[in-house]
Amino acid sequence: MEYQHILEEIHTTLQNSPQKGTVASYIPELGKVNADHLGIYLFTLDGKEYGTGHFDIPFSVQSISKVLSLAKALDFVGTDLWKRVDVEPSGNPFNFLTLLELEKGIPRNPFINAGALVISDILLSHLKNPKEDFLNYVRELAEDSSISYNEDVAASEKATGYRNTAAANLLKSFGNMEHNVEDVLDFYFYQCSLSMNCRQLARTFYVFANSGKNVSGKTFLPPGLVKRINAIMLTCGFYDEAGEFAFEVGLPGKSGVGGGIVAVLPGNYCISTWAPGLNEKGNSLLGMQALEMFTTKTKLSIF
Ligand code: DON
Repeated sequence: MEYQHILEEIHTTLQNSPQKGTVASYIPELGKVNADHLGIYLFTLDGKEYGTGHFDIPFSVQSISKVLSLAKALDFVGTDLWKRVDVEPSGNPFNFLTLLELEKGIPRNPFINAGALVISDILLSHLKNPKEDFLNYVRELAEDSSISYNEDVAASEKATGYRNTAAANLLKSFGNMEHNVEDVLDFYFYQCSLSMNCRQLARTFYVFANSGKNVSGKTFLPPGLVKRINAIMLTCGFYDEAGEFAFEVGLPGKSGVGGGIVAVLPGNYCISTWAPGLNEKGNSLLGMQALEMFTTKTKLSIF
């Protein structure tokens, strides 16, 4: 398959698109990013890699980090985790709070903000130096020690994270948070501030395409767990647009409000995109279009 050619075709088609979406500004630091960036990177499981556009510029991965924190938390507590978080699509935005009240503090899934806050709480119970240990985990997955947090982004979200503060307090009131609300939020904002470029992101998520083994074949997760995490990416990775992503793209994937998307075809490839402009559901507008074009042109989706 002419992957490089396909990626370049997609990039050429989309880079002059008149509609680029809107850069997230509810985290003020993210609002400074130029909407014109567009990068795509692909790792195939036969050891080849292909990139086009701005694939080497770091961006804030935001909610994409929730997949990595879930993987680490499952490593520690196994299926007990599901007593505290469900695995159903929420059909609502990532920061929606009403369901949490109605469902007595059990978040619908680990990728909406409330669910990710419970996962952060679990990691605080099991990691000795949470921020450092989590960063090292990500660096080991990607085998890249240059991956870091962006402290300006973390501070910016901390200063304006009113809805996450509300979610954390609700979780605490229902007894589904062990640690202090402030400590959980601080760790969560750091986790979301992880900064990676498209190549690093696709390298990190290679384990989800490769039954739990990273780019050099080192085992990080049992295949059974990868199966579960990919299922949750497919059903919940795009919040109230998860159906649309499955319909258009047909891959397990995860988005972030920094404009990144990563998606996998298990046993075949891992692909990442970055285009900072978001659609009205908070997912990268051009990123979704790029992935739709990729799976349509290659005929390689899970369907
Ligand atoms: O908690 C938040 O609102 C952000 N740190 C992450 C949200 C996000 O990336 C949603 N995904 N599209």
